[in-house]
Amino acid sequence: AELPAELPAFVARLKEDRDAVVLAHYYVPPAVQDLADYVGDSFYLAKLAKTLPQSTIVLAGVEFMGESAKLLNPQKTVLLPEPAADCPMAHMVSRRTIDAARERFGDDLAIACYVNSTVEVKSWCDVCVTSSNAVKICSELPQSNILFIPDRNLGRYVASQVPEKNIILNPGFCPRHEVIALDELIDIKEAHPDALVLAHPECTAEVLAEADYIGSTSGIIEYAATSSASKFIIVTVRGVLHELKRRTAGQNKEFFFTKTPPTCINMDMVTVDKLVSCLITGSGEVEIQLDDEARTRAALTLDRMLEYAA
Ligand code: 13P
Ligand code: SF4
Repeated sequence: AELPAELPAFVARLKEDRDAVVLAHYYVPPAVQDLADYVGDSFYLAKLAKTLPQSTIVLAGVEFMGESAKLLNPQKTVLLPEPAADCPMAHMVSRRTIDAARERFGDDLAIACYVNSTVEVKSWCDVCVTSSNAVKICSELPQSNILFIPDRNLGRYVASQVPEKNIILNPGFCPRHEVIALDELIDIKEAHPDALVLAHPECTAEVLAEADYIGSTSGIIEYAATSSASKFIIVTVRGVLHELKRRTAGQNKEFFFTKTPPTCINMDMVTVDKLVSCLITGSGEVEIQLDDEARTRAALTLDRMLEYAA
């Protein structure tokens, strides 16, 4: 349904009244992206949050994104329009895995945690990474053994790019990318043999083996926008299509998805209604539940990512 024409002006006034800035991930509904001040991938959103003058950050995304903004900006109010929107992968690692690796490798071990992780998980780790900087950071870490958590798919991809490191995987995965079917990808490739395949590293190894380009949501969008090719098979959550179309307007480019287009039910929960009511009421405030010491360690893990990725 069409949104009221006056909505953007109304939202702009709410933002001003609250001294708030709205950051959105490429996977949230298009109408929410349109009302945001900035839209980006996980790394961009984490980095950007530190540079903004407003006292309130509204994070239109899933819980770990709001938590990362809060960890990096403890003095600010961070609001999640839908606090129940969580990333299931953020929880897919146990403390036992960390302890076992530390025992086995001692000092020559770094624990790299994907930003898609809880604050508690971040507090156990040495450095945070996102899909846009994981390869760079893992290759620069001084240790030769790296326990990569929680995502086995991104971990395996990093291992393929950084063969000089011993990368230990953990069995976590993104339920949305994990189920992207190879046979559906092959079908769409056969239907469009001249299309390039752009895939997110959360996909399985067999899907990534078919890709012409592997990168974060921003990386995929940038690649398609600047490529001289005109057809692309996009192998990630469908939400990126909005920015792909915006960035390539007038370029005559075509985008295809697998027959079962991947969606993220958690990101889909972040609706315009919830964004508006969070701006009106100030609901959904992110509070980090951990004690001071664990919170400081989690924040350090993120700070190290910003340093390494700079
Ligand atoms: P990006 O950092 O590539 O935006 O990925 C976030 C995410 O949740 C992918 O599923
Ligand atoms: Fe988490 Fe997957 Fe959704 Fe990304 S797409 S937020 S990894 S469930």
